[in-house]
Amino acid sequence: MTSRGKTVYRCTDCGAEHPKWAGRCEACGEWNTLAEEMATPKAPSGRGAAKHSRIGVAGAPRSTAARAPRLGDVKGADEPRWLSGLDEFDFVLGGGIVPGSMVLVGGEPGIGKSTLLLQVAARLQNAGHAALYISGEESPLQVKLRASRLEEPSNDVALLSETSLETILATADAMRPDVVLVDSIQTVYTSDLEGAPGNVGQVRECAARLMRFAKDTGVAVFVVGHVTKGGGIAGPKTLEHIVDTVLYFEGEGSLDHRVLRATKNRFGSVDEIGVFRMTQSGLAAVGNPSALFLGDRHEAASGSAVAALLEGTRPVLVEIQALAAKAGFGTPQRVATGFDGRRLALLLAVLDKRAGLSFGALDVFVNVAGGLRVMEPAGDLAVAAALASSTHDRALPPNSVFLGEVGLGGEIRPISQAERRIAEAARMGFTTVFLSDRSIPQRNGSRSIRIAASRTLDELFGALFP
Ligand code: TYD
Ligand code: MG
Repeated sequence: MTSRGKTVYRCTDCGAEHPKWAGRCEACGEWNTLAEEMATPKAPSGRGAAKHSRIGVAGAPRSTAARAPRLGDVKGADEPRWLSGLDEFDFVLGGGIVPGSMVLVGGEPGIGKSTLLLQVAARLQNAGHAALYISGEESPLQVKLRASRLEEPSNDVALLSETSLETILATADAMRPDVVLVDSIQTVYTSDLEGAPGNVGQVRECAARLMRFAKDTGVAVFVVGHVTKGGGIAGPKTLEHIVDTVLYFEGEGSLDHRVLRATKNRFGSVDEIGVFRMTQSGLAAVGNPSALFLGDRHEAASGSAVAALLEGTRPVLVEIQALAAKAGFGTPQRVATGFDGRRLALLLAVLDKRAGLSFGALDVFVNVAGGLRVMEPAGDLAVAAALASSTHDRALPPNSVFLGEVGLGGEIRPISQAERRIAEAARMGFTTVFLSDRSIPQRNGSRSIRIAASRTLDELFGALFP
């Protein structure tokens, strides 16, 4: 036997405990769900324990009473946050880094997670917040090479190339920096567990201990987590439950912009996005995402419409492109990039039935320019308008934005927060907004924009393509 403490294997599905690893959980029958974890020491049992605690249940551990302070007496609620100065990063976190918090940064390999964290480390260090960057994936030389490409000087960032959790925690405890950045959680392991680094048990245990370290010391901890093929962060959902904040870094490999998105945030709102461009000298914050996503738009072309989406609290204009072309053999194709395929099928059916546009013999392609994803129903009307424009082979009116959800009856439905989206459209120089006659804003903040309301798709397209 080794000096390890006792470990057990727990089913991540039903929670049943097993003394040995097995491929299948005997309790619930699920396959591949057992993960190693530290055995919790058994409570002292028997009469001896019960005798001392007058109100204890027999066999339960004796507990000492804790002091419960008044909520008003809890300190630190208005503690200032640390700003990295990488604006989009601070914005997505909800206004800077909260001391003692733990943030998970997930994303596909090669997207730029290491670059982002190294830049954050450098900026924090230069702003007077000591940073310790721990790489389990790259040698100090590799990190140095990356750092030398960056705009921000990073000479003062402390660097540790290490994968042992015990060493990492001991070093961090001795140095007590303000921020510890661990790249990545999948390479870190604790010798208390037998499993290899990266397996569920290891990832969970290491994350939990880093979290405890953050809470005990007030050091902010960032960890990189790789994303599995399924899109989840390896070491399942449990990892997302442990940490305070989960950020996903995403983008199309071929495009140079990247979107940082908060999917969980105990200290700010979720679904906020920050937009970056990957340049020769690292990531640069993009302060005006709408300009970026509308960048190469060719307005006079048919099949192009602009939607105003809400990404978190921030409205962003995106171009939707549609192409309806004569199909060859067999079943016509329906291809949607950045838009839900089933939603597209629904819109095509509605356009067919309610607006008299037939797509039966046409291949249909819909693309959200810039690699953004349209998740909101508010994007429906722009998709429908782009499709109609493509089938008529006529461009939509210049400088117009389409806002609306499309119902099964072909009706254009109101959307949330129309004012904010319209304001962004006006700011970007658009002059007409097409929307539902039920979402005409009470106060039209910008006089420069014309509101064109319609009740149904049929009515709208009748006017646009007489
Ligand atoms: P990286 O941060 O290593 O990604 P991850 O940690 O998510 O795997 O970034 C990888 C890509 O970024 C790599 O293909 C090179 C590119 N890159 C730049 O374009 N400019 C730069 O200044 C740096 C540092 C990287
Ligand atoms: Mg990396």
